Amino acid sequence: MKKIPVWIDTDTGVDDAVALLVACRLEELEIVGVSAVAGNTSLENAFRNARDVLALAGRKDIKVYAGADRPLVIDLYKAEYVHGSNGLGGATIPLSDAPVEEMKAWDALYEKAKEYSGELVVCPVGPLTNIATAIAKHPDIVDHIKVLNVMGGAADGGNVSPCAEFNIYVDPHAAENVFKSGIPVNMFGLDVTIKAYLDDDDIAEISANGNPASDLFRDSNGLLYAARERLRWNGLCEHDSCPVIYTAHPDWFTGYDCGVYVETQGKISMGKTVCDLWTDTKFEDRHCKVFLDVDRDKFSSLIKEIYRTY
Ligand code: RIB
Ligand code: CA
Repeated sequence: MKKIPVWIDTDTGVDDAVALLVACRLEELEIVGVSAVAGNTSLENAFRNARDVLALAGRKDIKVYAGADRPLVIDLYKAEYVHGSNGLGGATIPLSDAPVEEMKAWDALYEKAKEYSGELVVCPVGPLTNIATAIAKHPDIVDHIKVLNVMGGAADGGNVSPCAEFNIYVDPHAAENVFKSGIPVNMFGLDVTIKAYLDDDDIAEISANGNPASDLFRDSNGLLYAARERLRWNGLCEHDSCPVIYTAHPDWFTGYDCGVYVETQGKISMGKTVCDLWTDTKFEDRHCKVFLDVDRDKFSSLIKEIYRTY
């Protein structure tokens, strides 16, 4: 079976780490590169965490590139109240001794997009600053990237504000540029990611595995349990695993063609992904698919199965 070439752009927080560990064990995927961006935590932490999580997965061969340490226009707003001061909820894992890559994320992504022209699936699971910068610096990248499977946005609601999901809220200007770039976008917003959760039995099962990846899961989610209660979610939402697992198992998800514009001016609505899903008036620019549902049993079972292998 020909593997799908995948690039993951991450602000390596707690659920990002789950997504990386899951991606490394999905036989359908070949992870051809990872880039770090500031969001949940600083760029320095996101870069180190991505390197260390990949080393924990036994995949020091996957190169990690550092990108933006702040959004395009506004100041960086971090979610350390959810992901802790080190980005991994305070959990510590061994440092990777892989060589440190000097090339910037947007340049490395451009090179890989040309190498896998027309095939590369990019999974941004943090703010879209690196992706927007790659498009601005290398405009022809839009001809090479097959699709962006984005964790971000919400057709309805928000988490960081009543209107906005964190990844888009942090860098709405980057998101607007990316959604309008012409690259097809599959949007995995809160609409579907809050349904992609691990319940208490799932959490207990993974936490009891007694392997390094499962220990990281056990030790890093403390603040997320509090977020789950505050936001009244049914379990531990594995937001960032949605784009990754969709890439391997698209039939587990349900989505609809849509136009998505991002609010970059509003005071109250800043960072909202305005979706024309349910309105008669449709946007002119419509090359997105907004996902609303997932087969949670298959989703959670796959994550549990993968964590048993570590
Ligand atoms: O809103 C959820 C998103 O924000 C996830 O990507 C999480 O890691 C945080 O970055
Ligand atoms: Ca993330």
